[in-house]
Amino acid sequence: MSTILKAVNLKKYYGKEPNITKALDGVTMEVEQGEFVAIIGTSGSGKSTLLNMIGGLDVPTSGSVVIRGKEIGKMNDEQLTIFRRRNIGFIFQDYNLVPILNAYQNIILPIELDGNKVDRGYVDEIIHFLHLEERLSNLPANMSGGQQQRVAIARALAAKPAIILADEPTGNLDSKTSQDVLRLLKVSCQQFNQTLVMITHNPEIALMADCMIRIEDGHIVETAKEKMMAGGMGNAEK
Ligand SMILES: Nc1ncnc2c1ncn2[C@@H]1O[C@H](COP(=O)(O)OP(=O)(O)OP(=O)(O)O)[C@@H](O)[C@H]1O
Ligand SMILES: [Mg+2]
Repeated sequence: MSTILKAVNLKKYYGKEPNITKALDGVTMEVEQGEFVAIIGTSGSGKSTLLNMIGGLDVPTSGSVVIRGKEIGKMNDEQLTIFRRRNIGFIFQDYNLVPILNAYQNIILPIELDGNKVDRGYVDEIIHFLHLEERLSNLPANMSGGQQQRVAIARALAAKPAIILADEPTGNLDSKTSQDVLRLLKVSCQQFNQTLVMITHNPEIALMADCMIRIEDGHIVETAKEKMMAGGMGNAEK
């Protein structure tokens, strides 16, 4: 297995002493290609901050992030934007859909921005799997939280990125839909050898991962690499 993503001594500080917030305070981690990593931790522990840093959406105070052998901190804005679009699918905690685009336009936006042809059959499959057929012409404002979340998941998968970074992707879904979404992510990751880093509050989901990282106060306090129970995504059903 090869390392696809590496973070070294990442720090993100907000404000100044004495009111400094150390959102991340020296996080070092490595993710193998094809691995499913679950990040858990209490609210405010730094999970979203970490995901934003490893996805190159925010600049760390110090430390480095290497994805597919490239240090993203050394790229300029344009290089980083293109690199992100080609390699990373984001599922944000607050969805981040474009308000003036309908569901379908949101789903295919990253593909179109990259000047690629939409794989209509594949996109339709995702739409069908996420039960979004009836919502395709809706604007985000006219969708429920769960529907917007499913559009955000479809958008992240549509471009078949090497890495999927997901921030509570099932946070707004009922347990049946959460299971469906997990199954979809699992199938997608196996089909395209994708790497999945997912923040979750759901212990059952965390236990399905190949690796579980627990964050508290901006530090990794626990890394569980061994499978804690059967059904880890990377190796199950192989
Ligand atoms: N832009 C910002 N300015 C100042 N402080 C921030 C900023 N963004 C995050 N923080 C602080 O950094 C810490 C970590 O925030 P983060 O959003 O990463 O937590 P989280 O683990 O994702 O929480 P949750 O589970 O509630 O989503 C928190 O104390 C938060 O208040
Ligand atoms: Mg968060």
